[in-house]
Amino acid sequence: MEKEKPQWSSHISFIIATIGSAVGVGNIWRFPYIMGENGGALFLITYLALIVLFSVVPLCCELVIGKTYRTDAVSAFEQINKKFKWFGWLCVLTVILIPCFYFVVGGWILNYIWIFLTNNIPNNFTNYFSGFSSQVFVPCILSLIFLLMTAVFPYRGVNKGIEKANNIMMPIFAVMLIVMAIYALTLPGTKEGLAFMFKPDFSEFDTSMILTALGQALFTLSIGMGAMITYGSYMKENTNIVKSAYTLIFFDTLVAITAGIMIFPIVFTFGVKPTAGATLVFISLPEMLAKLPFAPVFGSIFFILFFFSAITSGISILETSVSSFMNQFKITRQKATIINAIIIAIFSIPAALAFGPLKDFKILDRTIFAFLDYATSNILLPFNTILICLIAGWCIKSLWKTNFGETFFGYMFNIMLKFIVPLVLIFVLLAGI
Ligand code: PHE
Repeated sequence: MEKEKPQWSSHISFIIATIGSAVGVGNIWRFPYIMGENGGALFLITYLALIVLFSVVPLCCELVIGKTYRTDAVSAFEQINKKFKWFGWLCVLTVILIPCFYFVVGGWILNYIWIFLTNNIPNNFTNYFSGFSSQVFVPCILSLIFLLMTAVFPYRGVNKGIEKANNIMMPIFAVMLIVMAIYALTLPGTKEGLAFMFKPDFSEFDTSMILTALGQALFTLSIGMGAMITYGSYMKENTNIVKSAYTLIFFDTLVAITAGIMIFPIVFTFGVKPTAGATLVFISLPEMLAKLPFAPVFGSIFFILFFFSAITSGISILETSVSSFMNQFKITRQKATIINAIIIAIFSIPAALAFGPLKDFKILDRTIFAFLDYATSNILLPFNTILICLIAGWCIKSLWKTNFGETFFGYMFNIMLKFIVPLVLIFVLLAGI
């Protein structure tokens, strides 16, 4: 337990921290590969529509819950009504399952930083990737190192740890991303890459793609597992929630699109299929990078910016479960961080081994790694978001009036929260499954 509830030291720190949480592996790895698999431009349009129409409300809702109850996800739902405590725990379970595959990716990133920085670039990335990811110790140790690097910040606290990390890493990330995007736009595959991203092919349409786009929209904005409740609980009293939510959505989308602009021209320059899937950023892309001029420089920049985005998201993932453990079990932040890190370390082993010893172990036709990715983004996040909207809309008395007043936005928010967003999400979830 913390004696006094910590607060972000400024509004801008709050915004940077939420952007740090949102912008991550979801933008740089998941978004391009999912877009590649789902037909490019058509997916982008669906994704943008879902973000604009249906993510503002749940995002504002989580921030409002955080600001109102000034506590972690479990305690917040417990305070709304004792009956909902289990749901708070479901959010925490989700936020513990995500790092089990997320931090494995973090470990791979560390590996790639190393090979580009030391100029030990392999000539065949397909062999290289399957070589190291199928081992027993290397992927486990790498994800453990990534976990430890992440855990340092929640361990040190909101201001000295989380806020500082974000304030330093996010600006460097932004500069590196711009440098990489400009570099990519000078390559010969630019035209084709941009056409793939922005020229829709309507023959590719299918309904499960909508669920995938929804899952991605929730995942990338860190909605549906209490992360934004937790970060919202540290906001200053006079923070404008709607403006903050729009700022966050704007920057997160900008980064995702810039990541596409950076990746697809490189991919098309060498005529690789954009549908390479989860390994797009770890096999196809580095393979191309290695053939380009200044490979060690741009390869290092790419994987370092990827690392910064991943660690700042990882911090918010950990902080969400850490703050719940702290309050629920009345333990110190340091103890809560250590316990959570141990749980995640143990549960991420099966995902880290999913490319090697456990590669034939399938759940619903997916490896453990792919199953965790699918089950959290496409099922748990939409499900949790539906419940968050329903609970906040129907069980917190005049939440919209208190926060937004009797304005047009307030009325719309109320209707969206109680009816439209839950109904649409239920429909998309059922149709997608
Ligand atoms: N939004 C992060 C990303 O895009 C992932 C994340 C999920 C962060 C859940 C916090 C909570 O990579």
